[in-house]
Amino acid sequence: MKQCVITGASLGLGRSLSKKYASMGYSLILISRNKDNLEKLKEELLKEYKIDIDIIPYDLTNETIIFSKEILNSYSNIEVLINNAGMGIADSILYHDPIDEEKLIDLNIKALTILSIEFAKYFKEKGYGRIINISSVGSMMPGAYISSYYASKAYVSSFTYSINLELKQYNVYAVAFNLPRIDTDFDLHAKRKSKLKKGKNPMIIANKIYKKMNSKKGIINIGLSTKLMNLLSHIFPKSLISKCIGSKLK
Ligand SMILES: NC(=O)c1ccc[n+]([C@@H]2O[C@H](COP(=O)([O-])OP(=O)(O)OC[C@H]3O[C@@H](n4cnc5c(N)ncnc54)[C@H](OP(=O)(O)O)[C@@H]3O)[C@@H](O)[C@H]2O)c1
Repeated sequence: MKQCVITGASLGLGRSLSKKYASMGYSLILISRNKDNLEKLKEELLKEYKIDIDIIPYDLTNETIIFSKEILNSYSNIEVLINNAGMGIADSILYHDPIDEEKLIDLNIKALTILSIEFAKYFKEKGYGRIINISSVGSMMPGAYISSYYASKAYVSSFTYSINLELKQYNVYAVAFNLPRIDTDFDLHAKRKSKLKKGKNPMIIANKIYKKMNSKKGIINIGLSTKLMNLLSHIFPKSLISKCIGSKLK
C-alpha cells in the first residue's frame, strides 16, 4: 500500500491533510510532538478507513538527519512527503525570545530541508516521489511584525522551486504551496495579538493541495487572495507592501 509521511499532523492543516490522504487510500506515517493528539487522530481515522497508520511523536527542532534515515529504512513504499509542520512568531523583533527564534529556524527551515534532501534520494532510487512543502502567501514579501516567519517561508518556496528543477528528471517532483490564511490555531501558537479576519477552512485547503500534488510547477499559489498578492508583489515596491502588512499586524 502506498505510504504518505505528514509532519505537523496532530492539529490544523496537518490533521485535514491526514484525513484527505487517508480517504484516498494512503497508509500514513504521522509526525508531531503531541502523542495524545496523534493517537486520537489515528483512532478517528481507523474508524473510517482500512489503512495502516503509524504515529511518531517527535520534536522536529531536534536532530533530523538520523531521524529521517530511520524512517526511510523502516518503510519501503513511501510515495509522498508532506513537510507541513511550521510555527510563527508574530511580534516586533525587539520582543522575540531568541530560543523561540531558534526553534522557528530549526522547524521551518532546517527540518524541512533535511527531510526534503533525504527523501529526494530515496525517491530517486524508487523512480517516483512527491515532496510537498507547505509555504505561505508570506513567502512573497517582507512582513514587519512577523519578520522571521515570512523570511522562513521565502526560503521554503525558493528552496522547493530549485530542487524541483533538479529532481524532475527522475520523476520526483517538489512543490511549495503558498497558502492563504487558514482557520487553525496558528495565530494562537504564534502569540499574535492583532485580530485578523477568519481564514479558509483547512479541509478545503487540504483538498486543493491533494488535487494539485502532481503539479510539475515547483510553486503553486492557492486561493484568490494569494494569487492577487503574487501579482501585487510584482507591481508595487517592497517598501509599500511591507508597510501595509506591518500596519495590519502591529
Ligand atoms: N494557519 C495559517 O493561516 C497558515 C497560512 C499559510 C501557511 N500556513 C502553514 O501551514 C502549516 C500548518 O500550520 P497550521 O495553521 O496547521 O498551524 P498549527 O495549527 O499551529 O499546527 C502546527 C502543527 O505543527 C506541529 N508542530 C509544531 N511544532 C513542531 C515541532 N517542533 N516538531 C514537530 N511538529 C511540530 C504541531 O503539532 P504538535 O504541537 O503536536 O507538535 C501541529 O500539528 C505551517 O507550515 C504554516 O506555516 C498556515
